Amino acid sequence: MAAARRRNHWRLVTAPVLLVLLLASPCRCTGAAPATTMNATTDDDLRALLSFKALINGDPEGALSSWVNTSDPCGGWRGVGCHSLRHPRRVTSVELTSSGLSGTVSPYLANLTFLRTLNLSGNLLAGTIPRELGSLRRLSELDLSDNNLQGEIPSSLTRSSRLRALLLGRNSLVGEIPANLSHCRHLEVLDVGVNNLTGQAHPLLLGLASLSNLKKLRLYTNNIVGTIPCSLGNLTSLVILSMGRNRLVGEIPESFGQMTKLRYLHLAFNELSGTIPASIFNLSSIRQIQLSHNDLSGVIPNDVGSTLPNLEFLLLYSCNFHGRIPGSLGNASQLVMIELANNQLHGSVPLNIGSLRNLETCRCSKHWRLLL
Ligand SMILES: *[C@@H]1O[C@H](CO)[C@@H](O)[C@H](O)[C@H]1NC(C)=O
Ligand SMILES: *[C@@H]1O[C@H](CO)[C@@H](O)[C@H](O)[C@H]1NC(C)=O
Ligand SMILES: *[C@@H]1O[C@H](CO)[C@@H](O)[C@H](O)[C@H]1NC(C)=O
Ligand SMILES: *[C@@H]1O[C@H](CO)[C@@H](O)[C@H](O)[C@H]1NC(C)=O
Ligand SMILES: *[C@@H]1O[C@H](CO)[C@@H](O)[C@H](O)[C@H]1NC(C)=O
Ligand SMILES: *[C@@H]1O[C@H](CO)[C@@H](O)[C@H](O)[C@H]1NC(C)=O
Ligand SMILES: *[C@@H]1O[C@H](CO)[C@@H](O)[C@H](O)[C@H]1NC(C)=O
Ligand SMILES: *[C@@H]1O[C@H](CO)[C@@H](O)[C@H](O)[C@H]1NC(C)=O
Ligand SMILES: *[C@@H]1O[C@H](CO)[C@@H](O)[C@H](O)[C@H]1NC(C)=O
Repeated sequence: MAAARRRNHWRLVTAPVLLVLLLASPCRCTGAAPATTMNATTDDDLRALLSFKALINGDPEGALSSWVNTSDPCGGWRGVGCHSLRHPRRVTSVELTSSGLSGTVSPYLANLTFLRTLNLSGNLLAGTIPRELGSLRRLSELDLSDNNLQGEIPSSLTRSSRLRALLLGRNSLVGEIPANLSHCRHLEVLDVGVNNLTGQAHPLLLGLASLSNLKKLRLYTNNIVGTIPCSLGNLTSLVILSMGRNRLVGEIPESFGQMTKLRYLHLAFNELSGTIPASIFNLSSIRQIQLSHNDLSGVIPNDVGSTLPNLEFLLLYSCNFHGRIPGSLGNASQLVMIELANNQLHGSVPLNIGSLRNLETCRCSKHWRLLL
């Protein structure tokens, strides 16, 4: 009895307090405002995301099942992030990767005014890359790699001046890489490898050479033709240069020796001629040299294993190198693969390569291949 009376008393006292709290809540708890109080701009985000969903016609893993009109995109929609401090209710990232999504990419994603990251890599998206995405002024990372996208790379994308990463590799894109990409001064990563892109290498690379923040440049497996300008060596932050399987001609510029952070030099399967510039054998940062299937000639320096101590891959087969197999290979302790066959090299493989712990393949002559 006493307990019940006490409970009633409690109710009487708390009721007005709760009422005051309820009245005060709209200004106190803005962070947790329910969907019904979302303002007009947040509604735009909702509509844009639903229009994206509407063009997805295959979603085998139910990646978009949490995307429903009655809820708040910032309240737990899978792959949607709202990370702006000043605009906590605006969508800043959409990341739906390797989810088997098929369909096309909605141009209305361009209505996500606050979007910084769009990552739809590893799906089955087809159709073209919407031109409209170029109006996303805050876009910093655009990753549409590993899809079935067709058509050209819209040059309007270059209007996203804060772009740091543009990854469109492994699609079926055609046409030229937009020349005015060189306006994207913050670009650090450009990967358009394995498409059907065409165009002249020289003017393209001349433009890209001014992007001083560029760290990764992947243009491999396309149909880019012509010579490499010396100024590409100005990219002193470059770590990965991958332009194999194109139709590059002429010489590898001596200026590449300025790229002191370079780890991967991949230019195999082109029509490059001349010698490998001596300056490249000075780049102690280098891990992989892949220059096979070119018309390169000259000798491979005998001390290459000492000047390039981090070398993992030395792939120089099917060129025109002459002279001796470098005696210092056994000194490059990280070596994994050596391919020197189909050249005019002579001499024997240095005995001490047997002590290289990571070595998997040494193919040093037409007639034999050493597998360890
Ligand atoms: C409405 O949206 C604007 C723009 O994003 C934002 O600044 C404002 O804080 C929002 N208001 C509310 C009540 O969420
Ligand atoms: C979301 O639901 C509201 C209310 O039912 C409706 O008016 C609106 O058209 C819907 N929006 C979309 C994009 O489906
Ligand atoms: C996109 O934004 C435009 C202009 O604000 C608006 O007219 C249109 O309805 C929006 N569409 C979607 C699907 O969000
Ligand atoms: C996009 O997502 C994939 C898979 O999670 C990731 O490997 C990749 O680095 C992301 N892209 C960017 C630009 O961060
Ligand atoms: C690049 O060229 C296209 C087409 O001419 C244009 O729409 C775009 O605004 C240009 N980008 C820059 C950054 O000037
Ligand atoms: C490039 O085009 C050729 C012929 O038009 C086609 O056979 C090939 O599959 C295409 N490659 C890619 C990666 O789309
Ligand atoms: C870029 O390289 C070229 C040729 O190698 C050189 O003449 C030019 O001064 C360099 N520019 C900058 C900004 O370093
Ligand atoms: C290699 O580096 C040394 C020491 O930094 C320098 O003296 C030499 O000129 C360089 N050689 C080439 C070919 O760049
Ligand atoms: C390999 O390294 C050792 C120790 O640094 C050095 O004495 C030797 O000359 C090197 N061998 C070659 C062929 O460069």
